[in-house]
Amino acid sequence: MKFFIDTANVDEIKEAASLGILDGVTTNPTLLSREIKRTNRPYKAILKEICEIVKGPVSAEVINLGREGIIKDARKLAKIHKNIVIKVPLTKDGLKATKLLETEGIKVNTTLVFSSNQALLAAKAGSSYVSPFIGRLDDAGQIGMELVREMVQIYENYDIATEIIVASIRLPLHVIDAALTGADIATIPFKVIELMIKHPLTDVGVKRFLDDWAKIGSLTKL
Ligand code: G3P
Repeated sequence: MKFFIDTANVDEIKEAASLGILDGVTTNPTLLSREIKRTNRPYKAILKEICEIVKGPVSAEVINLGREGIIKDARKLAKIHKNIVIKVPLTKDGLKATKLLETEGIKVNTTLVFSSNQALLAAKAGSSYVSPFIGRLDDAGQIGMELVREMVQIYENYDIATEIIVASIRLPLHVIDAALTGADIATIPFKVIELMIKHPLTDVGVKRFLDDWAKIGSLTKL
């Protein structure tokens, strides 16, 4: 399973990349606007820097919603770096734009996907990636991971190459569940990556080993 980080915060991306576990990055207008505000830098400079830190796909989302607007935004964003993938919402115009962008060699990550019908349509339109938002489904009283399970099954049934990015992850348990479904990618917020590292028994174990070693005295010096 590939791990993407779901943030535009350059410090978080650097820290996660230094762990050696990062395959890509996803942003959205909320995350990018937060980083613009935090650093007072333009979006292009931020996206460029992210692409230099992580050698993998970096998703950036369109702002315009009509077909022509989506295509214009996508071409502009794609020029920033060869690894930019364009996040396009699953709408009628989004589907129309996706077909064209993918034929131009611009990769699309179909976003805001909440049903298997939408996932099928994204794949038919030729999208390289599709992002089901599981946390937001959970918020709405529907089990988000059930959607991912259906999508994995459907894509397997037809050998669909579109990669599933499990998005809107809120907890370490979401990552385990995503991995159990066989989804291709989990995009994970920084604070969840930190939680995945921690286990109280690891901390207790490290302390006990060091305490035992220290009891012996100078002979144990490495
Ligand atoms: O990847 C999409 C993600 O950023 C949305 O997460 O927590 O706002 O539902 P959330």
